[in-house]
Amino acid sequence: MSLKIEDITFTYAKGTPHETRAIDHISLEIKDGEFVGIMGRTGCGKSTLVQLADGLLTPDSGNIYLNGEDINSHDYDRNRLRRSIGMVFQFPEYQLFETTVKKDVAFGLKHHDISNEQKDLQVKEAIETMGFDYERVKNISPLVFSGGEKRRIAIAGILATRPEILILDEPVAGLDPYGREAFLKLLDEINEKGTTIMMISHNADAISEHADRVIILREGRITTDGNVVEVFSDIDDLRKNDIGIGQVNELILLLKKRGMDVPEGITRYDELLGFLERKNKEVIV
Ligand SMILES: Nc1ncnc2c1ncn2[C@@H]1O[C@H](COP(=O)(O)OP(=O)(O)O)[C@@H](O)[C@H]1O
Ligand SMILES: [Mg+2]
Repeated sequence: MSLKIEDITFTYAKGTPHETRAIDHISLEIKDGEFVGIMGRTGCGKSTLVQLADGLLTPDSGNIYLNGEDINSHDYDRNRLRRSIGMVFQFPEYQLFETTVKKDVAFGLKHHDISNEQKDLQVKEAIETMGFDYERVKNISPLVFSGGEKRRIAIAGILATRPEILILDEPVAGLDPYGREAFLKLLDEINEKGTTIMMISHNADAISEHADRVIILREGRITTDGNVVEVFSDIDDLRKNDIGIGQVNELILLLKKRGMDVPEGITRYDELLGFLERKNKEVIV
């Protein structure tokens, strides 16, 4: 399931005094199975870009291809697009409204042409994937859960439709550090099972620890697109885009200040810990 975006532009409120060019000639390709982090300061076009990718907005110019097919052509089957791409908006928990968790998660399957048994199976699987005991939660109102749990229930509703690409707009905003880490681990598992993930986040640690590739937008254009290690090794570039450099980089800077020779290319906790453990052994020997 490849998503190819070719030279798209998008302007809000065209022809009015409020006209805003939100996307300015963006091209990119998302490959099967990637976990892509999308970053950049507020207003740079992140949410607009993913809404274009999901077909909710139509570009002024340029094309978007899903598996080689133009999603904005007249004869493209919009239902197929809905089934291929799952979109999680900011604060999805506000959209919970059914009387039970099971009904809420099943909502998106209403018009899917599959048997009830198959629907139940997909609902159960999605609820379990999001870390719940299905039998315990299925008949409870989603409203009794905590904020982080509600968000996981809302995302289960998207997963139940088994999208091939999952797009999340600021999914960890407002979660406490424990809830955030638990949530990101679930995303890793979903990605490992084959779902492509595009995640918008301001949280440098969330991106540096979980994404494979990072795209940074600036004023509607792509300013950086690369492997997570490359992007998080370039501290000047992160700072230029008002992106936090992440706790691992902060620690490395402190260690370097104290005179420790930390090798280049370390951007994740386990790598930094591995290095420190080796260093520790050298000192003892
Ligand atoms: N519905 C809208 N109407 C008019 N302008 C908008 C609308 N949504 C976003 N914009 C403008 O488009 C630009 C990109 O916004 P957005 O994609 O929301 O950025 P981000 O998600 O990176 O914060 C900003 O200048 C923003 O003010
Ligand atoms: Mg946004």
